[in-house]
Amino acid sequence: MNLETSYLGLNLRNPLIVSSSGLTDSLDKIKSAEDYGAGAVVLKSIFEEQINYQAGVLSDGSDYPEASDYISYYTKTHSLDNYLKLIRSAKEAVDIPVIPSINCVTADDWINFARNIESTGADALEVNMFFMPLDKNINPVDAEKLYFNMVEKLRNTLKIPFAIKLGQRFTNLFYLIDQLYNRGVNGVVLFNRFFEPDIDINTMNIVPASVFSTPEDKRNVLRWIAMSSAINDKISISASTGVHDGNDVIKYLLAGADTVQICSVLYREGHKYLEKVIGSVKSWMESNSYDNIHKFRGLLNYKNFDDARKYERAQFMKYFSAYE
Ligand SMILES: Cc1cc2nc3c(=O)[nH]c(=O)nc-3n(C[C@H](O)[C@H](O)[C@H](O)COP(=O)(O)O)c2cc1C
Repeated sequence: MNLETSYLGLNLRNPLIVSSSGLTDSLDKIKSAEDYGAGAVVLKSIFEEQINYQAGVLSDGSDYPEASDYISYYTKTHSLDNYLKLIRSAKEAVDIPVIPSINCVTADDWINFARNIESTGADALEVNMFFMPLDKNINPVDAEKLYFNMVEKLRNTLKIPFAIKLGQRFTNLFYLIDQLYNRGVNGVVLFNRFFEPDIDINTMNIVPASVFSTPEDKRNVLRWIAMSSAINDKISISASTGVHDGNDVIKYLLAGADTVQICSVLYREGHKYLEKVIGSVKSWMESNSYDNIHKFRGLLNYKNFDDARKYERAQFMKYFSAYE
């Protein structure tokens, strides 16, 4: 049974990747992901916003401007150094690809961070990029230019492959993916799951909604994977959201993903659960006589599935639904 696959030009022993999260923020957790069978790991993101916040909080306490500047500089460098140390030690300790992740808000620091990350020998980079559109005067074309500008800078800086982890809501996802590909992006991760607010009506407060996904969250993602993998078959696609068991991995592969990322369910079940997920992919392949994942990857995508219009269907018309 051969589960090997290629993602961002890297060879993976299987398509299951532990997503960027607290599940990959230490050497022990990264080793455990490898021991239980992960094909690769994406490290917890290093967040510009968080570093700036920490730098701000610490330097605010000082009455001296030079001291504030120094504290701010030190905090940034120290956070980056710790991150670089983690990448280097992971590269020494495991054989699976190690993919660090950065979260950009502004350009300059991140080009510097990306360059430093590349120098550690990281196999690739995942860029967790989201610009919250808060200004009603910025039109959608200009809003998307922010992504393109950042990507161009990154491509000019990096030799290693990189993927952009996208949010779900763009006016025309296929255009966006094409434009990213034309600018040298090697892959897209569809999709990120963002922090979402909820309202507590008793305390009259804004509280965080559950950060963990459910298997139902997968359905809309399935549509976009199936269509994106058909419309641009050159860019690598990694599915992320709602993978809770082996069947979910198979579904995303059938829809055309090159790799499948897993996160929420591992918070509940632990890294050991990876063995179970991979085991169930293997037994499905065995019972369907597939000895290699390339024989079924994309079989049900928008190009290969006979009734591909099912992926386009968005409205609840009576004709297509069992409900009146
Ligand atoms: C607790 C937690 C922390 C996360 N941290 C990050 C992060 O640092 N960077 C990132 O790109 N995504 C992060 N994510 C999003 C996950 O990588 C993943 O894309 C998302 O949870 C969807 O996958 P899932 O349905 O398997 O959970 C985090 C998710 C969770 C639940």
